[in-house]
Amino acid sequence: MAGRPPDGVWVAPGRVNLIGEHTDYNDGFVLPFALSQRVSVAAARRRDRNLTVVSRQQPDRVTIDLDGLAPGLVTGWGAYVAGVAWALQARGYAPSGADLLIESDVPIGAGLSSSAALECAVAAALDGLAGFGLPAVDLAQIAQTAENDFVGFPCGLMDQMVSMTAIAGHALFLDTRSLLAEAVPFDPSRAGLTLIVVNTNAPHLLVYTEYAERRRACELAARLLKVRSLRDVTPDQLDAALSGLRDATLGRRVRHVVTENARVLATVDRLRVGDVHAIGPLLSASHQSLRDDFEVSSARLDVAVTAALSAGALGARLTGAGFGGCAIALAPVEAADDIVTNVAEAFRRRRFGAPTCFAAKPSAGAHQVW
Ligand code: GLA
Repeated sequence: MAGRPPDGVWVAPGRVNLIGEHTDYNDGFVLPFALSQRVSVAAARRRDRNLTVVSRQQPDRVTIDLDGLAPGLVTGWGAYVAGVAWALQARGYAPSGADLLIESDVPIGAGLSSSAALECAVAAALDGLAGFGLPAVDLAQIAQTAENDFVGFPCGLMDQMVSMTAIAGHALFLDTRSLLAEAVPFDPSRAGLTLIVVNTNAPHLLVYTEYAERRRACELAARLLKVRSLRDVTPDQLDAALSGLRDATLGRRVRHVVTENARVLATVDRLRVGDVHAIGPLLSASHQSLRDDFEVSSARLDVAVTAALSAGALGARLTGAGFGGCAIALAPVEAADDIVTNVAEAFRRRRFGAPTCFAAKPSAGAHQVW
């Protein structure tokens, strides 16, 4: 940044998914909320066609030539930044050259969408610098294109949508087919509750291969069932669908997606009437389904969930793609300390590395702060 002031500073948050896991790439329902942990990007225009990027969390400085950008030309963490510029260009918007200084307190590789937060903060900054005035939903889709086609991870739209559009004190109920969204009040502290995030601190390495495999399995099942996507299988059609499939593994994947969509709708119903306590069993049922039917849990995640429940949590589940990363537990405030202690003890007994716990605060989506 060479000592000069930025033209603006933009932020975008990480997220926790309350419920609705592995449903977004099946055209289904999700209910994430934004964290207070966020990525900020201080941006100053340059006269040339370069983006120079420095991150307080990374040792290297990245220089990106905006002319001739193509997937594969920038790798590592810089690909999330370059990918956004590339995706903007692919939509016909030419971002200006800029110096970007990045700072983040979203844990990296923990399943809290540090990469979506980075993409969204950069998208908001490049949009703001150039004065495109693109709607938040468009910026979320541009960030997803960056991740899908430049970085190469076939994620759905959930993380980018919540990072761009979340409202503080609310979760984002999103229909990922129509993109209809509703801010549903979710403020556990007003109900005497807390939402604890347990970071297992186990990197979710398998996620890259296993996620793509789950996505392919869902697409195959939809083709075999002759529906556009698994969103189109309703709970009352599930038994018929399962007996039509024959393949037991594929059947379990379908059952997860169909029942998870129903759990999102049930959770939204309860939150709309302010009954936060009542969502606990739905969270725990989601975990069982992710563990047994979708098979994306891990030993650490299962131990975290069991230990949280036995210490008084109303419900607990893995959050995000799975295979490591974080679990969440909804609990009465007075049970929080016991839960954190119990999870830490259970990890110690199993000789797992120590987990890190914090209380999540449903926060606002991307915006300019300066
Ligand atoms: C990752 C992806 C999301 C979503 C979740 C699983 O976070 O980026 O699009 O598919 O996994 O629900």
